[in-house]
Amino acid sequence: MNTAIGLAILMISCIGNAELWVIMVNRRHSLQYRHHTLRQIRKLHDIGLTAYPPLILLIAGLRPGGLLRGGHFVDLPGTVQWLIGTTFLGFVSFVVCVVRYQLRRPPAGYRLLNSTIYSATVDGASADVGTAPHSPHATTDRRSTAGGPSTSRLSRLPFNQIRQLEVNTKQFPLRSGPAGEQTAAAPLRLVHFTDVHLVGCPERAHYEFATERMLELSPDAFLFTGDLLDDMRLLPTAVDLFARMATVAPCYFILGNHDWHLEYREIRHRIADTGWIDVADRTLVTKLGPWNVRLAGTEAPWMGGNPSVPDRRDAEEDVRLLLSHAPDQRNYAADNDFDLMLCGHNHGGQVVLPVIGPIYSPSCYGVRYAGGAFRYRSLLMHVSRGLGARDPLRWNCRPEVSLLELSAPSGRQADDRPGR
Ligand SMILES: [Fe+2]
Repeated sequence: MNTAIGLAILMISCIGNAELWVIMVNRRHSLQYRHHTLRQIRKLHDIGLTAYPPLILLIAGLRPGGLLRGGHFVDLPGTVQWLIGTTFLGFVSFVVCVVRYQLRRPPAGYRLLNSTIYSATVDGASADVGTAPHSPHATTDRRSTAGGPSTSRLSRLPFNQIRQLEVNTKQFPLRSGPAGEQTAAAPLRLVHFTDVHLVGCPERAHYEFATERMLELSPDAFLFTGDLLDDMRLLPTAVDLFARMATVAPCYFILGNHDWHLEYREIRHRIADTGWIDVADRTLVTKLGPWNVRLAGTEAPWMGGNPSVPDRRDAEEDVRLLLSHAPDQRNYAADNDFDLMLCGHNHGGQVVLPVIGPIYSPSCYGVRYAGGAFRYRSLLMHVSRGLGARDPLRWNCRPEVSLLELSAPSGRQADDRPGR
């Protein structure tokens, strides 16, 4: 066999092997595993990822009659053929993910209206950080945040965007809304943020800056979708930041898997004491602006379960919103006639490579819903990239807070509402 073909087979096998380990890590992190187990899985992943290339080089490439010595694939031992064949399945999955990433399109009618990017630099000067992705109509300006020096080595890596902030406005067209012409001029305005993490990097100033920007947006409500903390000692900081928002608009929250690893009952009570309303594992109907909103929350699979929702919409129910920490609850949301599901958890993948896109995304759907706007059946999904991260590294995936403008179809009559 031609040596170049043999080399190509080995390279494809190595890529496929890496993809299989990534799939394993992504899927396991979408389930209810404790930190200890997840650490063991990541160690296994590290070993499998790094040990395979030299191993396959030795047993399939450089051995007498190997692929790099003029040998043929069919001449390799059966177990080696089986091993390479298995990794080829991983390679197919990798190609499918890349093609899907390249062909991704936002839902019809969705628009990124504007995006303001704040870049933190050592001297406090504004840096040119480019325009927001997928924003052909976006207006972008750049300012400086109040970021300070960090003790984290990871956070100092070149092009790391962990201390940047994108404040954007996204428009979602809904299939229903309040009756009357007033809705065209008064969309429902919701600030959605998630995955604060508060692990100490970025510093408190970063989150105070983000909080001030969110307060400036003056929304109809603030919505938080979990992963508040990675360190209980920072709970007072979180309480202080959340209390400010509770003074200006209704606030609703759920918690996430990182909170579940901590003393989540105390987190829940302390945040609720600031005026935020806990919607985990339940549903309520509330008035936000001119809209009657059914709001539900789920922290599955880590805490509680998916709340039961009436099959038929209430006569005064204009829109159904679901706060779910992970986008993995999409089937539940679509089955229960939710219009929009707001999620976090996946952090946009944190590291987004050119052409390939994100690699790691702790979801049963892998990188499919790493971050952005999606449609699944009649359900719209907003998967935020989040504000922080346990590992302070973000490339091509800056932290974000979003103002979501939900607009009703123009000229809709009261009895046009779907699902009735
Ligand atoms: Fe998170």
